[in-house]
Amino acid sequence: MFPKETYVERRAILKNTLKTGIILFPGNGESPMNYADNWYPFKQDSSFLYYTGIDHIPDLYFLINLDTDEEILFGNNTTAEQKVWVGATEKLESYAEKSGFKTVKPLKEIDTYLKTQLGKGRQVHYLPPYRFEQKIALSDLLNIPVKELDAHKSVPLIKAIVAQRERKTAEELVQLEEAVNITRAMHKHAIVNTRPGMTEMQMAGQLNGIAVSGGGGLAFPIILTKDGQYLHNHASQTVLQDGDLVLCDCGAYNTMGYGGDMTRTFPAGQRFSPLQKDVYNIVLNAHNTAVAALKPGIRFKDVHLLASKKLVEGLTDLGLMKGNADDAVATGAHTLFFQCGLGHMMGLDIHDMENLGEEYVGYTPELKKSTEFGLKSLRLGKELQEDFVLTVEPGLYFNPFLIDERRAEGKYLDFVNYDAVEQFKTFGGIRVEEDFVITKTGSKLLGEPLAKTAEEIEALRNNQKL
Ligand code: GLY
Ligand code: MN
Repeated sequence: MFPKETYVERRAILKNTLKTGIILFPGNGESPMNYADNWYPFKQDSSFLYYTGIDHIPDLYFLINLDTDEEILFGNNTTAEQKVWVGATEKLESYAEKSGFKTVKPLKEIDTYLKTQLGKGRQVHYLPPYRFEQKIALSDLLNIPVKELDAHKSVPLIKAIVAQRERKTAEELVQLEEAVNITRAMHKHAIVNTRPGMTEMQMAGQLNGIAVSGGGGLAFPIILTKDGQYLHNHASQTVLQDGDLVLCDCGAYNTMGYGGDMTRTFPAGQRFSPLQKDVYNIVLNAHNTAVAALKPGIRFKDVHLLASKKLVEGLTDLGLMKGNADDAVATGAHTLFFQCGLGHMMGLDIHDMENLGEEYVGYTPELKKSTEFGLKSLRLGKELQEDFVLTVEPGLYFNPFLIDERRAEGKYLDFVNYDAVEQFKTFGGIRVEEDFVITKTGSKLLGEPLAKTAEEIEALRNNQKL
């Protein structure tokens, strides 16, 4: 945990923004995999973690009563019978002390507390719940049908939290740096140790081990695949072969719950083919151009469009596209090969605060999120500010299904040389992803640099020291 003052201060800022009513934060519970006592790894709710620092303990709530200036942590200590299974556990009162809570109450008291407050006409602010257990619990506590919970979420609370969590403090940046370095170790291991003949899963398993050893575990299911053209294709039993491109997108949480998210694409054999290298360099150029454009005040949507233009220019040089690059991007022709967004905020969540709603996290009332294919997957569009942490992850994805469909529809005929594209339907996909913090004048890479050019990656694969 950070020092107690961090959490007291974070809650104080939140209190100042909202002024009246009750702010209710449910912590997460254990989530069963296939029967009640067999759980997925525990993941605390990120806003709960941000304001309390309390991780690993399921079924907690905290609330801030703005009208009485109370902060109460609700939960149960483990009983002797539970300790038969789990051993000694730190007392809730000890966590409360470290988090700066003066009052701890048993879980069963939250129902009466909230019903009394609701009886007095007090407003309860809550975030949109994303787990079914949370939805049922909130529905019971607040007398709101599950289906209506979303309509009653507190937009002022969402906005106040986004404004607070989107700018990372110096102590958070230390944690993010650590998470990205664990993530970097996963990628370095994959680049050095992947061999033809291994299955995707065999390497993904080794990377999982590095993430778990780092103390926090995987930040999201590992994408390690020769079929990188499918954006979230997870590792499978597919055997990697010489000539394949391996797209590895993975990341780890550190012990404090902060995450890292990187992607590298490398040859399953020793070297990229000349064509693979050409396409790789197009993606790398788009990546570097985007990174050079990062600074406070620039709209990330414009950086996305700039990277898209670089991709189009590269594909034009390669003979796959034609015409004016700006017009191609304006028409959306680049989405035949780059179907998603350039990046997203990162922090306690890999897609930071996505559960609060992308319209509040990545956009503003003046800049609404597009509903067009491609742009609708851009999670961050708004102006960047100093201390934002985000990913930059352009890619080229030769999806045979999409190519066939767009060709049959007669789309983008002014910009795409479909005959030339045909031979790329088995090419795969390439992405290069790194994490950055926005500084006063530009951006700074998080974590130690890792081999990024095709030559550096080949050198690292062939065990040369860089
Ligand atoms: N790295 C996974 C994602 O950004 O969705
Ligand atoms: Mn990402």
